[in-house]
Amino acid sequence: MTRVLSCIQPTGVVHLGNYLGALRNWVSGQHECDAFHGIVDLHALTVTDRPGVVGPSTLELAATLFAVGLDPEVATVFVQSHVPEHSQLGWVMECTVSYGELSRMTQFKDKAAKREADFVSAGLFTYPALQAADILLYDANEVPVGEDQRQHVEITRDIAMRFNSRFGDTFVVPKVVTPKAGAKVTDLQEPTAKMSKSSSSEAGIVYLLDEPAAIMKKFKRAVTDSDGEVRFDRAQKPGVSNLVEILAACTGKSPTDVAASYTQYGPLKNDAGQAVIELLTPIQHRYRELMGDRAELSRLLRVGADKARAVASRTLQRTYDNIGLLPLD
Ligand code: TRP
Repeated sequence: MTRVLSCIQPTGVVHLGNYLGALRNWVSGQHECDAFHGIVDLHALTVTDRPGVVGPSTLELAATLFAVGLDPEVATVFVQSHVPEHSQLGWVMECTVSYGELSRMTQFKDKAAKREADFVSAGLFTYPALQAADILLYDANEVPVGEDQRQHVEITRDIAMRFNSRFGDTFVVPKVVTPKAGAKVTDLQEPTAKMSKSSSSEAGIVYLLDEPAAIMKKFKRAVTDSDGEVRFDRAQKPGVSNLVEILAACTGKSPTDVAASYTQYGPLKNDAGQAVIELLTPIQHRYRELMGDRAELSRLLRVGADKARAVASRTLQRTYDNIGLLPLD
């Protein structure tokens, strides 16, 4: 079975765009491939300078992933820092990638420029080496990522090939794949922009844990247009089309069929809001249940860590053996 790895950083709160655009496909995908999902808390350290922040975000994200339906018995859901092999292989990766290659990473250049007046950690620079370790530890065949991460998976391929040619066949060279398209959800207040945690206003973002009344209010206030016609046309009618697409994603209908059954914006907004509430209510219920049962959450995370370590420790040992590090026997 194809092994597929995706990782997510525990920064920011999960919203409807993340769920309908990606997480929902992770849930269906766990039955179609050998899925590994890492919560990469060590990556978040590149921009963390306060205590007590990463842990709670990691726990909340884990509870969210389980609440939306990732099943630790089916997929492997783990926290990066629970699998020490990530840091260990990370160092080997740093010694396999060059300074020049890391200097060409556009994400580093962007982030370093944005943090100009701020602390730019060496970790921000070597981050792709840790990401390569995340991927290569699990012999992943495919890594589905958006455009912004493509370069990091390409460099992982280069690192894997270089290592294999220096030290003998050790790593599976992963392929970058485009994630299965989910619904494209845009900001309710600024419907030409992706729903995103970096958006300027909260009113345009529906969080997975928003109360029903708050969700309905956001939908009722969603920006539309003034021509009064319901049609699925992203270019001409971004606001209306976004509502149509959200409602279609919630009900399993096509956007064109959804658009055809409305003549007015009011009922469309109302039904989209209602459908989102119905979709999220059981997820919120499960989330609260899990957050109230730390023992169960720990058990689920331990299942994931054990499954992940079983694979990661073998890969690290193979790596050390192929390099010819002195074993302690
Ligand atoms: N760098 C990725 C991001 O910012 C997160 C990530 C870390 C990742 N390790 C990974 C993604 C391994 C895919 C595979 O989104």
